[in-house]
Amino acid sequence: MEIPADLGRVLVIIPTYNERENIERITGRVRKAVPSVDVLVVDDASPDGTGEVADAMAAADDQVKVLHRTGKEGLGPAYIAGFRWAAEQGYDVMVEMDADGSHQPEELPRLLAALEDADLVIGARWVPGGKVENWPKRREALSRGANTYARLMLRIPLHDATGGYRAFRAATLDKIGLEGVDSRGYCFQIDLALRALHKGLRVVEVPITFVERVHGTSKMSRDVMMEAALRITQWGMAERTGKQDGTR
Ligand code: GDD
Ligand code: MN
Repeated sequence: MEIPADLGRVLVIIPTYNERENIERITGRVRKAVPSVDVLVVDDASPDGTGEVADAMAAADDQVKVLHRTGKEGLGPAYIAGFRWAAEQGYDVMVEMDADGSHQPEELPRLLAALEDADLVIGARWVPGGKVENWPKRREALSRGANTYARLMLRIPLHDATGGYRAFRAATLDKIGLEGVDSRGYCFQIDLALRALHKGLRVVEVPITFVERVHGTSKMSRDVMMEAALRITQWGMAERTGKQDGTR
């Protein structure tokens, strides 16, 4: 499928931790769905050997690259490393995508089309037309709850601020400035969306169908949840008391 040419060079960044059974399939789907985009796998030294599988893919396809990191540091630091690499290589658009097939590469052209009139596009589940397949009720309630809390607490017009299928313009990441970002888990997503909104950038949600993984396991944990809950509360309180909001 073709994507808007004026967006420039697009890189899909896929963070991995123990995604050996998933990484080849997702990379193949991206390359097939949108052949013009490059893929960067950012692996945190997965014990299951995901990094070696990625290296083999990169050796066979020069549109696939791998960034090896020394250990598991969370989603945020992995993406920041990927964004830095992309900026150095001169990419114009950076896409975030999970390795496990939850974010469908076939929907990428729709996200990129929306980026023509936006600075950040978020693939959203909790909007009309958005869907989640095969999630247990408990996980759906957690995600909906977290997003409702974020929307009310942070007074942002987003319905899926934690969503991890996104397209950023390189200029958007420049304007946000990644130096001060220290969110580690999934609240990294909220952090970047909030920073973009505070800079007055255009953040647009487009509906996606999120499909729960078949292979491997989620890295969601108690720590990831607590970090998000605490930070949303802190940012929200800071905004209400007129203090620095912590994201700036
Ligand atoms: N490099 C690296 N390091 N990758 C990581 C790490 C890490 O510490 N933690 C998670 N990942 C990778 C996983 O390997 C996967 O490719 C992707 O990040 C998402 O992780 P999952 O564990 O599959 O996330 P999920 O399905 O529970 O959560 C989804 O929903 C969250 C809440 O809405 C994702 O879409 C998240 O992005 C989203 O915030
Ligand atoms: Mn997942």
